[in-house]
Amino acid sequence: MKSIILLAPPAAGKGTQSDLLCKKYGFVHISTGDLLREAMQKDDEMGHMLQEQMQSGKLIDDGVVFQLLENKLKTIQDTSGYILDGFPRNVNQAEGYNQLLQSKNQELSAVIYLSVDYDLALKRIVGRISCPKCGHVYNDMIEENQPSVKGICNDCGIELTKRSDDNEETFKVRFETYIDQTEPLITYYKEKGLLYEVDSSVSTAEVFKQIESIVERL
Ligand code: AP5
Ligand code: MG
Repeated sequence: MKSIILLAPPAAGKGTQSDLLCKKYGFVHISTGDLLREAMQKDDEMGHMLQEQMQSGKLIDDGVVFQLLENKLKTIQDTSGYILDGFPRNVNQAEGYNQLLQSKNQELSAVIYLSVDYDLALKRIVGRISCPKCGHVYNDMIEENQPSVKGICNDCGIELTKRSDDNEETFKVRFETYIDQTEPLITYYKEKGLLYEVDSSVSTAEVFKQIESIVERL
């Protein structure tokens, strides 16, 4: 089973490219951000805690994230592989994931780093809208990523919403947190010979072409 990590700053296109990869190769999409947003909807202690913390733009406790990930991994089988979108986000999570793979006798296939700068990423979140049901991401200001019917999910037919952390203030913290805690993983995976870099500042289709050429070689 292939295991591919998408490593990138916020709004680089992890969710967008994950959807395309899953459609083309039948992979399962695992976004820890989506898992946390789902847990955040629950009217319990964890849900309330997450509502506050996700709004801050900082990372959520490693133990909480790991538990959600392990639960999700237990549900997937008979698949050609899965995409990890937004996990790991620090060295501790990466080490934990190595151990998990070892315990299952599996190997990490590749880490695809999507590079994009702060200004472009910020521009992309301004128009971002997503489906609260399936998590599919659109952009009402970027033509190639607009839904067929304005404000409605192509697949679920329900109204698209804006994420509560998509404001400039929280975005700044998310980006700083990325530089401080997640960016060191580029060197970490480069040293393991697993890192592939993709220029994510070009169009969605052009980014996907670069990713396809990596995945086809795995
Ligand atoms: P998460 O949900 O993962 O958010 P993020 O990392 O900030 O990334 P985004 O989802 O904002 O962006 P994306 O890269 O998926 O881009 P997208 O495809 O949407 O995490 C949210 C929070 O959860 C974190 O802040 C943290 O608190 C917590 N969390 C999550 N995982 C965690 C973990 N492992 N540990 C601890 N805490 C964790 O694209 C963005 C927009 O641009 C869209 O509108 C899209 O249509 C458009 N677009 C995409 N690509 C292109 C392109 N090539 N050209 C033009 N437009 C494009
Ligand atoms: Mg995302």
